[in-house]
Amino acid sequence: MSRLWSALAAGITPYTPGEQPKTANLVKLNTNENPYPPSPKALEAIRAAEPMRLALYPDPESTALREAIARVQGIEASEVFAGNGSDEVLGLIYPAYFERGAPVRFADITYSFYPVYAALFEMETDEIPLSEDFSLPVERFYDAPGGVIIANPNAPTGLALNESAIREILRRNDRIVVVDEAYADFGAKSVIPLIREYENLIVVRTLSKSHALAGLRVGYAAANAKTLEALFRVKNSFNSYPLDALAQLAAAAAVMDTAYFEETRGKIIETREWFVKEMRSLGFSGPESGANFVFMRHESRSGADVQSLLRANDVIVRRFDKPRIADYLRITIGTPEQMLRLLGVLRAKL
Ligand SMILES: Cc1ncc(COP(=O)(O)O)c(C=O)c1O
Repeated sequence: MSRLWSALAAGITPYTPGEQPKTANLVKLNTNENPYPPSPKALEAIRAAEPMRLALYPDPESTALREAIARVQGIEASEVFAGNGSDEVLGLIYPAYFERGAPVRFADITYSFYPVYAALFEMETDEIPLSEDFSLPVERFYDAPGGVIIANPNAPTGLALNESAIREILRRNDRIVVVDEAYADFGAKSVIPLIREYENLIVVRTLSKSHALAGLRVGYAAANAKTLEALFRVKNSFNSYPLDALAQLAAAAAVMDTAYFEETRGKIIETREWFVKEMRSLGFSGPESGANFVFMRHESRSGADVQSLLRANDVIVRRFDKPRIADYLRITIGTPEQMLRLLGVLRAKL
């Protein structure tokens, strides 16, 4: 703390990202990264880039990338906004669509960045408790005066909401409804096709998970073109060039490589289904996952115990020390070999 800090900087509690350890040989299953490399076409695009691409400012509107995303999603480039990771897109959404004095509504157990943005922009929140089984109490998301954010599938529970529930939330709200589909490629139906039907819908997506590009920092939003204009206005009032030239090239190439995308996400889903069965046989249970992670607790050992046991054996998983979920571990789905390492530790030491 210093007297030079603003009251805002002194008062906020920043988001704490999962650990990024520097040591090799760790099985890192704590931040929902993809265990496979990105599409080789993304790397080819970076290697083939003209040097002058770096001497000049990049395209401020990421046009070619937005066109590639639009093509793959079956929408128009004017319906796509690109940002420096979906965290940035979410951050820009607050001043673009939410207001002070009208609380932003989201679940009490969800992506822990949502309340952090609210605090940064000095906005209030309205946190709705998830049901006992971690499902979303859908009716409580109707008529939110300040707007709604839903992660689908939710993080860290992994539970997905069906399209009819989202339609009902859209119909019953006059303000913006943000659907964060960071994990949707692993098991939830995307609502991008609904953007022309509901002008209050914004779908947020990332290339960090299903496209294995967490290090490149690319995310996007899809919405009705008129709705989306507010996001461009806010972006151009903060940072005109959120995506660097190489990120734009590599992301466009990765998005277009649908065959590679299908292959790697298929492998992850297959590994998840097998891993859940193995974990159940060891006494773990949890909600059904539609994501590239599972959220499970042991029948008798505490979450802290199991986490430190894994850590002592070079396996890192994430745990949130919060009411109702402190005994759950959020375990990213890695390669079958990584999951076998984790299972081996549990079989030998639990
Ligand atoms: C629900 C959710 N949304 C958004 C993000 C941000 O992803 P990125 O900024 O890498 O696009 C994450 C990352 O963990 C997430 O879990």
